[in-house]
Order: sequence, then C-alpha cells, then structure tokens
Amino acid sequence: MTVRAGLVGVGPVGDRIAMCVRERNFPLSEPLRVMATSARTEILGGEQVQVQATRAELFEGLDVVFFAGREGAKGASVQWAPTAIECGAYCIDNGSDFRLDPNVPLVVPEINMEEVTEETRLIASPNCSTIQLVVALAPLNQAAGIKRVVVSTYQSVSGWGQAAVEEMERQLPACLRGEPVECDPSIFARPIMLDCLPHIDRFLEDGYTKEEMKIVHETRKILDEPDMPITATAVRVPIPLGHSESVNLEFEQPITRDEATEILDQAPGVVVMDGPTEDPAAVEYRNDPNELQYPTTADLYKDEYKDMVLVGRIRQDNTIENGLNMWIVADNLRKGAATNVVQIAEGMLERGIIG
Ligand SMILES: NC(=O)c1ccc[n+]([C@@H]2O[C@H](COP(=O)([O-])OP(=O)(O)OC[C@H]3O[C@@H](n4cnc5c(N)ncnc54)[C@H](OP(=O)(O)O)[C@@H]3O)[C@@H](O)[C@H]2O)c1
Repeated sequence: MTVRAGLVGVGPVGDRIAMCVRERNFPLSEPLRVMATSARTEILGGEQVQVQATRAELFEGLDVVFFAGREGAKGASVQWAPTAIECGAYCIDNGSDFRLDPNVPLVVPEINMEEVTEETRLIASPNCSTIQLVVALAPLNQAAGIKRVVVSTYQSVSGWGQAAVEEMERQLPACLRGEPVECDPSIFARPIMLDCLPHIDRFLEDGYTKEEMKIVHETRKILDEPDMPITATAVRVPIPLGHSESVNLEFEQPITRDEATEILDQAPGVVVMDGPTEDPAAVEYRNDPNELQYPTTADLYKDEYKDMVLVGRIRQDNTIENGLNMWIVADNLRKGAATNVVQIAEGMLERGIIG
C-alpha cells in the first residue's frame, strides 16, 4: 500500500510534517509534492526540496494533502482544500478555519480516529495546546467523568512562528545588559525575552483571548462533551519549543492520584514522568529526599519523547471533592501539529481509506 501525498505550507509545521513523513516511513509512492505561495528551493525536514507555487493541477492524482499554511480567507486550506477535494484527495488541515465546523471531524488519533470515514474528505487537526490537553484528559474522563477543567498554559514562541523565535533571540543581549529591549509589535505586544505574556492571539469582547477559547471549544468537541465547564489562561513564555500546561481537574467520581497515574501510564500517546527521582543530586546537593521527577520542554529533544505527551506532578487537589492537579508537556510543532496529522493519515491507511 502506497500513497501519493502533497504538502501545502513550508513554515515550521510544514518542515516537521516532511520530517515526520520520512522518520515514520509513511509509505509514499512518489516524493511529497510540496507547495507554498511561491516557487523556490527549501530545506525541509533536513532535506533540500523543490517547492512549487500552489496551483490546481498540482493536486491531481494525490491521495492526501497536508495543509500547513496560514489561516483565513487567503489562507491555504480555505483557498485550496476545495480544489484538492475536487481532484479526489483527502485533506488534513493544521489550521483553525474548519475545526469547529460540525461537518468536519476534529481528530486526535488516540481519541477519535473512528470519526474519519471514506466520506470525510476534510479532517481538521486541533490547536497545539488542545492536542496535548485532550490526550491526557480523554482516558481520565472515561474513568471518572470530568466535571470541570481549569488550565493555564505556558506556550513557546515557535507556536507563533519562526519569526517569533528570531525576535526572542534578538532581544536576549539587551535583556542581559539591562538595556531597553526593542520589540516588533506585529509579533508580540511586549518584549517576550525574560517575561511572560498572558496574551496569545486576539482579545475577544469578554476579555478572553481567541487561543483560550480555542482550547475550550476544541476540547469539548473532541471529547464529545459540549457542555463541559472549561476555563483557560494562555500565556506566551520565552521558550523556543514546547508547550507546558498546569491543569486542575474536578471529577464526578472519586479518583486517586495513584489510579490516575495508572490510567495515564496505560494511555496511548502518554508518558508519565512522575514518582521519586533517580537523580542523586536531589539528596546530595538539594537535600530533598522527597524530590520527584517531572517533564519539561528539554525532554522533548529526546527521540523517545518528541512525539509523546509527557505528564507529571499528578497530585490530589484537597480543596475540592475528587480533584487532581497535573503538569502536561508536549512539542507544539510535532504532536501539537505535524505528528498528529501524519498519525491521522496513518490511521486512514490502516482503515483502507487511502492507499
Ligand atoms: N506553530 C505551531 O505550533 C502550530 C501548531 C498547530 C497548528 N498550527 C497551524 O499550522 C499552520 C502552519 O503553521 P506555521 O507556523 O508553519 O505557519 P507559517 O510559518 O505562517 O507558514 C505558512 C506556510 O503556508 C504557506 N501559505 C500561506 N498561505 C498560502 C496559500 N494561500 N496558498 C499556499 N500556501 C500558503 C506559506 O507560503 P510562503 O512560504 O510562500 O509564504 C508558508 O510556507 C497554521 O495554520 C497554524 O495555525 C501551528
């Protein structure tokens, strides 16, 4: 079984999609057909590729197209997904344009791959901060019924794009010298280096941001819990890659820390990093015999964790009945975007929908 696949968009997400397709040996029958707004040569996923200016005939003969372009009316999937579908391809979109469309499944393969059928020509992949949250929440919801979610995110600058990573790096020398820091206001409203900005995407009339409401609405849709009370605070932090989340959960049924740890340990896509640390320096230098291990974004650079959702600091919240706190970390460009769409395509291949 082999597949002819296309990729529209060669930003950081497109780069990781090309990387994931190669690393996971996704069975291509011909090289990935790569498109963007203009033609040129690019290094994508570590390899030089020819990028073509997107045009209708390039979709002919493709089985599946990964969209990793900008969003909105002039964005890649709004402009080109209908053409790709007309040409017979299935489209998997990283952007937010179709995520809440009731006719478009919003898919995280660990949770709701069965929503993709032969009739599903367009499939949406959730926002990066939603994906890592639901991968951990779904098995706990199944076990004890989630009554309320309070989530605070710590999101890396690569979630905005490569220009934000460069902006942050540019600001470091002035920050370290204690000098005024210049900031490109088209990226972030304030200097990001050595600060935290509770401001991701545009503000809505009620004071929440669009990013916060994406987490709320997308989580409800994926878990098929349209009324689940969820409240979010999304914060941009000066970290190049990887999002972290502090999550407080209230359950319908009693659930202990140990039970939740066991459930998460068995859950697909999750690695629990909790329990006593094996670091001898905990006692030797920090005099802390109770020190625990926990995940951070630095773990995402290790091969065994780069596509996983890492969970730690699982503990009882004793201020409410049936409450838990936890800490969730994942790579926003891989599991938060590229890995998820390639896993969707793999699931379609397994089900005989493509290939
Ligand atoms: N960054 C994350 O953590 C993350 C996580 C989850 C989802 N996403 C979503 O994934 C998508 C891609 O993100 P990114 O950060 O890689 O974006 P990006 O850096 O803005 O790159 C967008 C790419 O799409 C191409 N493009 C834009 N409009 C197009 C059009 N109308 N036709 C053809 N190509 C078009 C651009 O072409 P040119 O290069 O020629 O301009 C560029 O290569 C976005 O929708 C984003 O919201 C991002």
